[in-house]
Amino acid sequence: MASVDLIDVSKVFDKGVIAVDSVNISVVDKEFVVLVGPSGCGKSTILRMIAGLEDASSGEIRIDGKIVNEVPPKDRNIAMVFQNYALYPHMTVYQNMAFGLKLRKYPKKEIEQRVDEAAEILDIANLLGRKPKALSGGQRQRVAVGRAIVRKPKVFLFDEPLSNLDAKFRVQMRTEISRLHTKLGTTMIYVTHDQVEAMTMGNRIVVLRGGKVQQIDSPLNLYNNPSNQFVAGFIGSPAMNFFKGEIIDQDGMWFRNDSLKLLVSQEHFSCLKDSISSKVILGIRPEDLLANETVNKEHNISQATCKVEIVEPMGNEIFLYLSAGQHSMTARVKPDVQPAVNSDCKIGFRMDKAHYFNVKTRENIC
Ligand SMILES: Nc1ncnc2c1ncn2[C@@H]1O[C@H](COP(=O)(O)OP(=O)(O)OP(=O)(O)O)[C@@H](O)[C@H]1O
Ligand SMILES: [Mg+2]
Repeated sequence: MASVDLIDVSKVFDKGVIAVDSVNISVVDKEFVVLVGPSGCGKSTILRMIAGLEDASSGEIRIDGKIVNEVPPKDRNIAMVFQNYALYPHMTVYQNMAFGLKLRKYPKKEIEQRVDEAAEILDIANLLGRKPKALSGGQRQRVAVGRAIVRKPKVFLFDEPLSNLDAKFRVQMRTEISRLHTKLGTTMIYVTHDQVEAMTMGNRIVVLRGGKVQQIDSPLNLYNNPSNQFVAGFIGSPAMNFFKGEIIDQDGMWFRNDSLKLLVSQEHFSCLKDSISSKVILGIRPEDLLANETVNKEHNISQATCKVEIVEPMGNEIFLYLSAGQHSMTARVKPDVQPAVNSDCKIGFRMDKAHYFNVKTRENIC
């Protein structure tokens, strides 16, 4: 059991590439924390520094409160599962799982006991005699996790362990890893660039961009209160719609641009009062756009006529790809609404759900 703290940690590679930029993350004991962000944002580098496979250029890394910057990887009591988990092809599942313990000269009895226990937890006890080539992708993945479990590490690090699996398996393994976390109660840090994985697995999520932490929060807080436009756009699928425009005070407070004129909801009056007559970015999620709604001030619904570009029926819902002048947006509506392509559709904006961002800093205003 262990906590992991990164204090002002940076990593600068040769030629001045700043991969990780003054990152502060505190993972508490038994927590499941997900690092998420686009390719190249520094996720793997952070994990590798925690594991000791990469030195931090500056800052402190603590495991259970102890500074480990100078501690070699083998003494950090951490296990890491990679995307390319490369099982030894000539060894059986049992031998693959036992290998690390054998190297560390554990007694045979202890090795047997640990492998059996891990196989039981992962439901692969019947596969121990097989070679990797006789396993499915998901089973191989479980063996790779088993190899980590047998070491009984203080902390598990996962670097995109599911990205080689097909979509159905990913969903299954996702729940298995979550269950494993509950069962083992070990601190886990999990890297992915898939925001759905992040939202469904993490107790808390760290959103990274360009080596910098953008926000650390619970999944729902990230979704409901994104701290900036990047987080707002990254979390949620289909992504939040954004429009640049001006806040005006003209018989009520409005957000206006060349194609939209939307009445600002009362709860946003005070936080937008300094933005009157200046530009802001309005963000609204696809589910907060309603099709064929009439203007309804009491329910904070403002309206715009949009052209239907594409209709995507998903079964339980429909995605509408819409345009208003040069602005495009996505609405997520009930399956019984089926406007025709190229038709005009009245779209209701639930303005009480709107987010506003500063045009220059892209920080959340409200
Ligand atoms: N050994 C290295 N030498 C120089 N630059 C590196 C090295 N390793 C990583 N980088 C750079 O550091 C940045 C962060 O890389 P990192 O692998 O941590 O990203 P990531 O978030 O894991 O991306 P991905 O989702 O593609 O795996 C990238 O710009 C990358 O090119
Ligand atoms: Mg990576």
